[in-house]
Amino acid sequence: MIAEDLFDLAPVIPVVVLDDAEAAVPMARALVAGGLPVIEVTLRTPAAPAAIERIAAEVPDAVVGAGTVVRPEDAERSAAAGARFLVSPGRTPGLQAAMAATGLPFLPGVATASEAMALLEDGITAMKFFPAEAAGGAAALRALAGPLPQVRFCPTGGISPRNAADYLALGNVGCVGGSWLTPASVVRAGDWDRVRRLASEAAALRTG
Ligand code: 3PG
Repeated sequence: MIAEDLFDLAPVIPVVVLDDAEAAVPMARALVAGGLPVIEVTLRTPAAPAAIERIAAEVPDAVVGAGTVVRPEDAERSAAAGARFLVSPGRTPGLQAAMAATGLPFLPGVATASEAMALLEDGITAMKFFPAEAAGGAAALRALAGPLPQVRFCPTGGISPRNAADYLALGNVGCVGGSWLTPASVVRAGDWDRVRRLASEAAALRTG
């Protein structure tokens, strides 16, 4: 799988923060059942590696990846846990090398033309656009498509059902990411039916 393939699997990548690895499998099953198989587990909690491991082992239809990969050592650690892709809010040369060394597809984060051009010099054309709303939103991506038509973005940060369709309508947006599918209170309550419903609404966005 290359990074661009992630874009074809689902219009939305749920960005999840898990305090308890026990929630990982039922949450992933609900997302998959709703039509969102690509799941980004952020490395923001100590439970993240175990959550990735469990989803990889027990939810075969899920494509689980690691998000918030900010230190070079996070890359190999995530791969060892079973992550099938890596996402970072940004990019440094050291982090990029560590992510590439795993052999996994990865989405480094950019917010400007210069940052995107630095990645293009290394042959990378799939990127996260972060923080999407704060960095200019859909208007910024539309503007970047002029000089950088070869780049495809996964905007993340401030995306919601309210604005997701505006992003997905852009030719240089492969998919969007967001945390709205798995609100903390819903995960804490174990309301997997609600997660499944939020996922199925989001899965319908590509054509909606
Ligand atoms: C990310 O890590 O990509 C963002 O924090 C997710 O942003 P959101 O919470 O605004 O969806």
